[in-house]
Order: sequence, then structure tokens, then C-alpha cells
Amino acid sequence: MKNKAEIPANEIEKQRDIMRKILEASQARQAKPLAYIDTYGCQQNVSDSEKIQGMLAEMGYGFTTDEFAADIIVINTCAIRENAENRVFGNIGALVHTKKKKPTQTIVFCGCMAAVPETIEKVRESHKHVDLMFSPNALWRFPELLHRTLTEKGRVFETAIDDSAIAEGLPAKRDGTVKAWLPIMYGCDNYCSYCIVPYTRGRERSRAPQAIVEEAKALIKDGYKDITLLGQNVNSYGAGLSEKTNFASLIKMINEIEGQFLIRFMTSHPKDAGVELFQAMAQSEKAARHIHLPFQAGSDRILKLMNRGYTHEEYVEKIAMARKLMPDIIITSDVIVGFPGETQAEFEDTLRLIEKVQFDAMFTFLYSKRPGTPAEKLEDNVTRAEKQVRFERLLDMQNAISEEKHKKYIGKSVQVLVDDRSHDERYPLRARTNGGRLVHLNGTEDLIGRFLQAEITHCNSWALYGEAHTNAL
Ligand code: SAH
Ligand code: SF4
Ligand code: F3S
Repeated sequence: MKNKAEIPANEIEKQRDIMRKILEASQARQAKPLAYIDTYGCQQNVSDSEKIQGMLAEMGYGFTTDEFAADIIVINTCAIRENAENRVFGNIGALVHTKKKKPTQTIVFCGCMAAVPETIEKVRESHKHVDLMFSPNALWRFPELLHRTLTEKGRVFETAIDDSAIAEGLPAKRDGTVKAWLPIMYGCDNYCSYCIVPYTRGRERSRAPQAIVEEAKALIKDGYKDITLLGQNVNSYGAGLSEKTNFASLIKMINEIEGQFLIRFMTSHPKDAGVELFQAMAQSEKAARHIHLPFQAGSDRILKLMNRGYTHEEYVEKIAMARKLMPDIIITSDVIVGFPGETQAEFEDTLRLIEKVQFDAMFTFLYSKRPGTPAEKLEDNVTRAEKQVRFERLLDMQNAISEEKHKKYIGKSVQVLVDDRSHDERYPLRARTNGGRLVHLNGTEDLIGRFLQAEITHCNSWALYGEAHTNAL
């Protein structure tokens, strides 16, 4: 069935024609042109960079991590917090020097920051070495935009938010060989009051289930064993599609694909996560026993101001429901400290929630004011120093809980999937438990991509350390 948000095939074919044109030009050069891709932000951005990489590979580019050797530098940016933006600006500034050394170098600025009006103006006025800027929703037209940048005089800015697009059939070149990101939907309609994503990625739209299942099958055939379904709110998957489907059905469909692999997903929104999802997970043996369910705050007043659509109590009940159906489920979350006007008592509601739920791990963020969001206009009378004190208190509390949880693994043998090498000589491998906990493992590289038993020997608050039992296989 046709997905109405999908870009017509002839439009994609036009981009393919342009890719062939650039490939010819690349092949006519003495040396293969090189690209350097620098990615910030969430997995959605990582997945977008894999598409950029795929398109560049089809256009005859090789890849480098040396900024001075690169013919094209792509900075795929994130606007979620101010410090993420500052890092990007620091690096963009430094590229003035690489371009001075190599004036033919093309500098591309894309990702979420390329959809923020203030940033677009800043790059236009003060970062004149940026040749091409395009917003996330223009990604599928990258070949055309690059061609214009390479052949026309002047800079190219394609920063409008085109809301409705879903592009199927573009190449992707993935970095790993074991773990793969698989976008199932784009955009966000939730408008949490602090968050910039709905303004940078546009309206929520879902890919057709057949397209997702086909891609999952191809990944499994290629040897991938750990597939993460991506969306800002995977629980609303399917809304707006002409056929009736939802996220629970999608998990079940993917679970039926043959092979030994794990299905993960992120991110779930607590307002839409419920018994149907937990049941689908419990009934699907390939669904990892892990849910990342950001709660953001423990005070009902703050949750309301954040426009999150659930209360403290409702959140805690959902966790209880998930644990009832899957007693061994790993639960992780995100929390924001220092939302405008959050009082000490309200902050302590957050601590209470953490105490009650006992998360396995958590990402803690200091609130960052984002341009154009409703929270930007809220008054804030809490000092930065006070927020920092709260932040550290919360971190200490969570670290102690995480460490306690991790200690329970010591002496146990757990199944892990070895997914990568590491730089630590004593533990040269990285692996994940079914619930997604990181395990630093000893063993040889031939184990990458294998499910095996590992005996956990020690831990800290972030990771487990263990020994691989290959003889048990
Ligand atoms: N769509 C996902 C999360 C996307 S952003 C979800 O809703 O769960 C990842 C995390 O960044 C959020 O969960 C939130 O904790 C944090 N975040 C988003 N905007 C922020 C801001 N303005 N300041 C601080 N943290 C923020
Ligand atoms: Fe941002 Fe909320 Fe959408 Fe997540 S659900 S991306 S926090 S607006
Ligand atoms: Fe950042 Fe955009 Fe992701 S703002 S977190 S890269 S959706």
C-alpha cells in the first residue's frame, strides 16, 4: 500500500541521475576524492550520516578522518542543548584553517542546527567558509544540493522545513557490522515545551511497515544481529498511514523474520507506552528486555509545564506494568534538572521517583533554553549554581543505584552479543547483555558478531567487565 508521505520514485531517480553524474566526475579525477563526516547528536543523526555516507560512496568518494586530506567535510549537527551547539561552532571555526590550506575543500553544515533560524543567520553572516547548509528534511536531495554547490557560483542554503517527506530507496553505508540503526518514523508532534526537535525535524510521519520489514530482512541477511528501531516516539508509529498498524504489530512482524537477532527501539514516550507494547515485547522472543522510557521530571506541575501528558503516579504504574509482564526488564531513562521555576520540593519529587523506580541507568541533562520553544519564555529564578548542586545530587543517587544493580551480575554467567572492539588492551571487546548493559570483555576479535556466555567479574556504575566462555559453545 502506498504511503502518502513518500517521495515519488521519479524524484528519487533524479537524485540517482545526479549521483551518476558526480561519480563520472570523481572517476575522471587523478585521485579518489575523500570525505570526512563528523556527526553530533542522537542515533537519528547517526543514521542520517550513514545515508550521507552511502550517497557519497555512490558518488565515488572515499572516506578519511583527516580534515586536511578531505575534499568534502560534512558536519551533521545537533541542536538539542546549547553545549552541543557550542561544540559544533568550535569545530566549524577551526575549519577556516583547513580550507585555507586546501581552498577547493567543500564544507557542508547539515543536521538539526541547520533548521534553526538564528543559526542559519549566524552561518550565513559569520561562517562564510560554509559552502552548503541543508536541514534534516532536505537530506534526500543531498546529491542535487552537492552538485549545485560544486558547479554553481555562490553558497547553497536549503534550510526550509519540508514537513511531509519520507524518502525510500536511498543508499546507506553503515559503520558497524553487528548493530544497525533502522528509522521507522521521522519528526515529532509532541511539542514538549523545552524541546527543539519538532521545529528541526518537522511533523511526525511513519515509514510503511513493508519498507521497514524489507530493510530489517536485508540487515539480518547481511549479518547484523542487533537492530534498533528509531523514532522520537516509536509508540505513535503508524498514525497517519493509510493501513491500520501500530508499533506493537511492527515488533511482532519483525520478530517473525528468521535468524538469531535482537530487536531494540528508542525512544518510547511514557504517555503512549502501555500494556499493548509490553505484551508485544513479552511475546516476542527477539525483543530485547530493555525499555528506555524518559520521565524528564517527577513533579506533576513541572510535567504539565513540560507538556509531557502523564503524571508521576502514571509513570510509576507503567513501570510496574512492564515489570509484571517482564520481571527481568532493564529500565533506563532521561531526566532534566533545572526546568525553569522548578522548586527544591519539585526537584525532590524527581529524586522520589528515581528512588521508587530504581532505574538501571539514566542520562541526566541540565535544562538548556532553546530558541523558539514555549519554555524559552518561562521565568526562571533558580541560579545556575543551585541547579548544579541538584544535578550532582541526582547523579550521585543514580550512580549508587546503577552500581548496586551492576553488582548483582558479578559471578553470574550472562548471554551477551559481542558488537565491537575497544581500545582497552585488557578488555579488547565490547558486548551488550540482552538488556543493553555494556560489557567490557576479554577475548579475540573473531568473537565479534557472536552471541556467547560471559562471566561477569566486576563492574562500575556504567559498565560490567567479564570473561568470554567460548568453550561452552
Ligand atoms: N524523543 C525522545 C528524546 C529526544 S532528546 C524522547 O522524547 O524521549 C533526548 C533527551 O534530551 C530528552 O529525553 C531530554 O531529556 C533531553 N532534552 C531535550 N531537550 C532538552 C533541553 N532543552 N534541555 C535539556 N535537556 C533536553
Ligand atoms: Fe522532544 Fe518531546 Fe518530541 Fe522527544 S517527544 S523529541 S522530548 S518534543
Ligand atoms: Fe539533536 Fe536533532 Fe537528534 S536536535 S538529539 S540531532 S533529533
